[in-house]
Amino acid sequence: MASVYYNYIASKWVGALSGETFASYNPANGELVGQVPQCGQADVERAAEGAAAAYRQWRLVPAPKRGEILYRVARRLQQEKERLATLMTREMGKVIAEARGDVQEAIDMAYYMAGEGRRLLGYTAPVELPDKFGMAVREPIGVVACITPWNFPIAIPGWKILPALVAGNTVIFKPASDTAVLGIEFVKIFDEEGLPPGVLSVVTGPGDAVGEALISHPAVKAVSFTGSTEAGRRVMALAAPGLKKVGLELGGKNAILVLDDANLDLALDGIVWSAFGTSGQRCTACSRVIVQRGIYHELVERLAARARGLKLGDGLLPATEVGPVVNRRALDRIEGYVGIGRQEGARLVAGGHVATEDGLDRGCFYAPTLFDEVRPDMRIAQEEIFGPVLSIIPVRDLADAIEVNNATAYGLSSSIFTQDINAAFRALRDLSTGIVYINAGTIGAEIQFPFGGTRGTGNGHREAGQAGIDAYTEWKAVYVDYSGRLQRAQIDTDDLVRV
Ligand code: UN1
Repeated sequence: MASVYYNYIASKWVGALSGETFASYNPANGELVGQVPQCGQADVERAAEGAAAAYRQWRLVPAPKRGEILYRVARRLQQEKERLATLMTREMGKVIAEARGDVQEAIDMAYYMAGEGRRLLGYTAPVELPDKFGMAVREPIGVVACITPWNFPIAIPGWKILPALVAGNTVIFKPASDTAVLGIEFVKIFDEEGLPPGVLSVVTGPGDAVGEALISHPAVKAVSFTGSTEAGRRVMALAAPGLKKVGLELGGKNAILVLDDANLDLALDGIVWSAFGTSGQRCTACSRVIVQRGIYHELVERLAARARGLKLGDGLLPATEVGPVVNRRALDRIEGYVGIGRQEGARLVAGGHVATEDGLDRGCFYAPTLFDEVRPDMRIAQEEIFGPVLSIIPVRDLADAIEVNNATAYGLSSSIFTQDINAAFRALRDLSTGIVYINAGTIGAEIQFPFGGTRGTGNGHREAGQAGIDAYTEWKAVYVDYSGRLQRAQIDTDDLVRV
């Protein structure tokens, strides 16, 4: 019997005002995971009023005290790691080791942001007039909407909610419908660990109803969104009339560059992990391998053997290496792109079909897929597929490889395998992505550094680390004049220095 879940809106656990619900299913086998409220405009209004009222007090709670609540949340997440990870594998399919990593990323962020309760650093600087003091301090923004995807159902909400709260904002959280149950479970922990009523709400329902109502609501002052580039454009357009602060974390078309002198065993491990981990459903997933000609054939052959050998299955089974993709729609989209690759004339060297053997037909499984002799301008080398499909592109040299890497609409992450330190440093200077790895794959960012990308990957905003604090605070410049007379900046400065 699947559980029925409620939303936490303005400090009460409630259903949608309409009474409607929708179901969340396990993509490995179709099992019903939970039934959650299908909210709409009226529910969003209730949440926004609650969040606006709670903001009046929460902004005045000393930041170290806000941080202490986050420490409790961090410890509780540690205690609940296995339960949440298991639920994650059931709700969206990623293999259990990766699900544990997802929860761990939120734990890391909770400790980091709890510590920010005693930092949230501003600065002072010398001022140009005597008997005067200047400083820049951080202020919360107000009510913040956090709209998150299903591929990191705990980590990404953690990236957004935790810095927003420690900075003194109140938050309305809309999780992706495919992982609505986990979103609700996450919020329960904050509630149970003593976050005051109304400070964090969760509202579940479709993006075009709940998400749009949230972004447009006048009480909502900032929006942080992770999802598709197409949806990101819509978010920005909806936020524009209110001139709201918007953070967008969108698609990727991340590449691994492999030079002739690379440690090939290491490169292969990095490619397999980055391309087929999470079934290729990470913003940071590697979907292009850009390879120098000298090792091209050996790399393709060995990679094809590795891809064919990967064990697909339910992510809860210990032998499983690749889980399902999130739902039927995703499966159809991937299938569509593989058809496009074939039509474009790329050579299919592994996979290329829905996996149905040994009971996999009960779920949404796609065989790890490899195309080679891909031209950089083909659609499969340009568009985000968000599945286990990898394109291999031959190039002449490093300069060529960097040019191919940079010539897409996205700029999230990239990596290079080489033993040549000069090549590595040139690459780290010239790869135009927000994240660059040397001798590691394209995935595995840590929370103390800025996460995000250039071009179509976003709008210049970054998450995590200090950049995460910037996203949820406003600067206030403060001048204190203790001279007792009118001192005019830029004007009364001329005769101050007599030597
Ligand atoms: C994402 O793919 O949306 O760097 C987030 C990584 C993870 C986060 C990925 N730490 O792959």
